[in-house]
Amino acid sequence: MLRTPAALADAERWTAHNYHPLPVVIADGDGAWVTDVDGRRYLDCLAGYSALNFGHRHPRLIEAAHAQLDRITLTSRAFVHDQFADFCRGLAELCGTDLVLPMNTGAEAVETAIKVARKWGYRVKGVPDGRATIVVAENNFHGRTTTIVSFSTDPDARDDFGPYTPGFVTVPYGDLDALAAAVDDTTVAVLLEPIQGEAGVLVPPAGYLAGVRRLCDERNTLFIADEIQSGLGRTGRTFAVEHEGVVPDMYVLGKALGGGIVPVSAVAARREVLGVLKPGEHGSTFGGNPLACAVGTEVVKLLATGEFQRRSAALGAHLHAGLGALVGQGVVAVRGRGLWAGVDIDPALMTGRQACERLAERGVLAKDTHGSTIRLAPPLVVTEGDLDWALEQLAAVLREAR
Ligand SMILES: Cc1ncc(COP(=O)(O)O)c(C=O)c1O
Repeated sequence: MLRTPAALADAERWTAHNYHPLPVVIADGDGAWVTDVDGRRYLDCLAGYSALNFGHRHPRLIEAAHAQLDRITLTSRAFVHDQFADFCRGLAELCGTDLVLPMNTGAEAVETAIKVARKWGYRVKGVPDGRATIVVAENNFHGRTTTIVSFSTDPDARDDFGPYTPGFVTVPYGDLDALAAAVDDTTVAVLLEPIQGEAGVLVPPAGYLAGVRRLCDERNTLFIADEIQSGLGRTGRTFAVEHEGVVPDMYVLGKALGGGIVPVSAVAARREVLGVLKPGEHGSTFGGNPLACAVGTEVVKLLATGEFQRRSAALGAHLHAGLGALVGQGVVAVRGRGLWAGVDIDPALMTGRQACERLAERGVLAKDTHGSTIRLAPPLVVTEGDLDWALEQLAAVLREAR
């Protein structure tokens, strides 16, 4: 008897319905592949929304975690532990900056960046107390806390969760003139995703990120790059801002930083920025714990060689060529960089959800977003053969619907 139906019913019975998962119950994973409770194998083309850039159970990450589990896992930041400095140094060097503040989830790191920017605004820029504003983009996705959903433009994320945190100004993504009009003497930061993931893998027009950098310099405003999904090799570079030669004032990182094993997030910035925080003003019981740091250090080492970034660039070109060939065959448009793609399916054929269900039946896991778009973000350990096979499955799903 198949175990999947009962496992799905149990999950449905005992959890809040804040997700609408595909009907797949995963039991184990290895590299780019997972196996469900009934022994069916799937190519994971979502990779935990980029939290699994190094694949499931990368041997070096598992080894680092095991070694740390045998020594010490948690101290709190009331004490210093012997994994802490190595992680912070390694990550600061990877970002080419001075200081790192580790947290756990992506949303916590975004909240950290918001607090740091506000304090920087009051203490360094000289914004009058309580007046700081942060400019954000329409269709942003930065997490789920009450402050972050306050500046979401997605009704599902925002409605019914007010009262909302003030101090945010929203502009269209990719529009430099609108941004220039929105930044004023109270603006402490511009907070952007270099590529908008949840919005459908939207790549801004060429020159936008460099223009944001110039504008922030001219107006003495911080540029915060939320690289939680776009960073750490996903787009073929360590950070997506590199495609335009941009260095932000704050990197916000998460997801893949935890190697798919533990939640690890961080903010990385120069001393003049992150140095504004004093003891007692911010923290987290679990942030920067020994297990997180041991895994995070190994993640940084994997990225330091550039191998994953090169794989992502080369395999990404292959993926995008294959997806491009499907335009007009049931695909309306394809966007993205590296091993990251937003694929708009012809809405006359099916919804994104239906496309993902049919792909799952054929052994490919992907996730829909906003109507008819599906997102593909396979682990960077995926092979060219895996990608060709996934493309064949997508072509077959489209063919069957036409
Ligand atoms: C760009 C971006 N920022 C922030 C987050 C929030 O991260 P978390 O779910 O770990 O809180 C996400 C998650 O999808 C994201 O894609």
